[in-house]
Amino acid sequence: MCRNLIGFLLLSVLIISTGCNKKSTNEAIQHQLKIEKNYILIPIQEKADELKFTIHYPDASEPEILWIRLAQQQIDYWVKIDVTKFINQSVSIEIENTHRAELGVNNIKQSDKFEFEYHEQFRPVYHFTPQYGWMNDPNGMVYFDGEYHLFFQYNPYGNRWQNMHWGHAVSTDLVSWTYLPPAIAPDSLGSIFSGSAVVDKNNTAGFGENAIVAIYTSAGKEQTQSIAYSTDKGRNFTKYNSNPVIPNPGIWDFRDPKVFWHNTSNQWIMTLATKQSVTFYGSPDLKSWTRLSEFGNGIGSHAGVWECPDLFPLRYQGKTKWVLIVSINPGGPNHGSASQYFIGNFDGKTFTADPLPYPLWLDYGRDNYAGVTWSNIPENDGRRIFIGWMSNWDYANDVPSLNFRSAMTVPRELTLLHNGKHLIVASYPVAEINTLRGKKTKIANKTITTTTLVESILKEQFGVFELNMTIKPQQAKIFGFSLMNESKEKVKFIFDLNQRSIMVDRKESGMTDFHPNFASIPFAPLSLSNIYHVRLLVDKASSEIFINEGEIVLTNIHFTSSQFNQLEFFKEDGHWSAEDISIYELKR
Ligand code: FRU
Repeated sequence: MCRNLIGFLLLSVLIISTGCNKKSTNEAIQHQLKIEKNYILIPIQEKADELKFTIHYPDASEPEILWIRLAQQQIDYWVKIDVTKFINQSVSIEIENTHRAELGVNNIKQSDKFEFEYHEQFRPVYHFTPQYGWMNDPNGMVYFDGEYHLFFQYNPYGNRWQNMHWGHAVSTDLVSWTYLPPAIAPDSLGSIFSGSAVVDKNNTAGFGENAIVAIYTSAGKEQTQSIAYSTDKGRNFTKYNSNPVIPNPGIWDFRDPKVFWHNTSNQWIMTLATKQSVTFYGSPDLKSWTRLSEFGNGIGSHAGVWECPDLFPLRYQGKTKWVLIVSINPGGPNHGSASQYFIGNFDGKTFTADPLPYPLWLDYGRDNYAGVTWSNIPENDGRRIFIGWMSNWDYANDVPSLNFRSAMTVPRELTLLHNGKHLIVASYPVAEINTLRGKKTKIANKTITTTTLVESILKEQFGVFELNMTIKPQQAKIFGFSLMNESKEKVKFIFDLNQRSIMVDRKESGMTDFHPNFASIPFAPLSLSNIYHVRLLVDKASSEIFINEGEIVLTNIHFTSSQFNQLEFFKEDGHWSAEDISIYELKR
């Protein structure tokens, strides 16, 4: 029977079979592979159907299940299954519903190399991206022994959302990242959704003093909370053998545990997204959890599901306030995904929000989602450091990069500021970002009496730069500046003092038609003032604008056919002036 499968015979040749190929009634192919090289390479077609791969490794108690878009009509790119540790052993792969994917089946091969174009057009220079494959939320960020760990929602087997692992990278300076192998892989409880990591200094869980403990959602038939630990600086994680630690209470959306040690109540606190609320749990040991309270009914935005919450203290004028970040999708101020926050008090059991004009948004751009903060930052540093996923569920799976999908925002420090009316959470690039600064070019102060093109200075920046300036509106009500290239593709930053808003227009920013919701003009409220400080970070395919040291932030991605190399100041009515204008080249 196996000899009848012509396509699969080819597969047998390419991947060197030692066993018999079987074809079952649902057109599954099962194959025993003698592993001779480091990787099994699988050809992918972005728009092909996902096929179920069941892989039995010699050392594993349960098979690994993957969903892979095996090429049907064309090969867009390749993914690898790393089998280095099984060389000279047999691995069994079963692929279901292969009838339309002969091309893919026939091209699966073994190889010692996995090559792809890393420096593709939209790969940023100083923003974190996965080396290849799909990435969404930042997870498990923890500082330990001189390293900032960044885990992330990761699909190593394709550039669309699927097969959720925790990818992993470390940095000693929040600027340069070293890729490490995926840290936690799916198992029979489900795939590995978002969560957090803590350092268990006092060995409350019994996994060892200073073990890094990851707390994540197991997303299978239902969502439950699980833990895994590492005693080797996060290089290897062992899943706790009595997972899950919190079973599902009958709520479908029950995920994204963020945990911290709360000194006053002497326990671990977990903040968990539960449908359209946040539920707090307490634990002495990270293993047994007690439900403490629930927050969210009737407050803030409920236009979508609540996800990725984070609760932490910040100081303001000598007092401690508690901030609760809650990401929401859809229902952001400019459609799709965004992160709202609440400011209030937490007593070890209950979070009480101060009466403020909710919803309040951390970032009004379309591309900062699911962000949370690092744990275990040393006291002598004391910062609350945040990073977000620089995309939006509206179109994240369709953005036109090839070998990887999406980047993180720059790491940002969160602080409490008073905006003249009430407290807000400001976010501003961490000081380490300044170390990227190279050559500084200054431009003389400009009074903008007519639309003015500044061509020369961005020419040498290759779409990777920082722009700082002070804006004085004078008589102008509608004015601003654009980043542009020679094809007149542009991102426009528009101040509209009549509407008391700032907008970022990316409707003409090049490739926008990959998704109907991409071309848009997100806006943020802006208080009237005689002076605005602007800091803009650009990195090939993104802009992050910080007004007044992070009081207002808009993060947006864009896909131009060539880099921005022109800066244009425009006015629609009265004169305005741009002062202290400087441009830094940024490089790693
Ligand atoms: C947020 C989110 C989380 C979930 C993860 C799955 O972007 O939906 O709620 O854990 O992504 O990848």
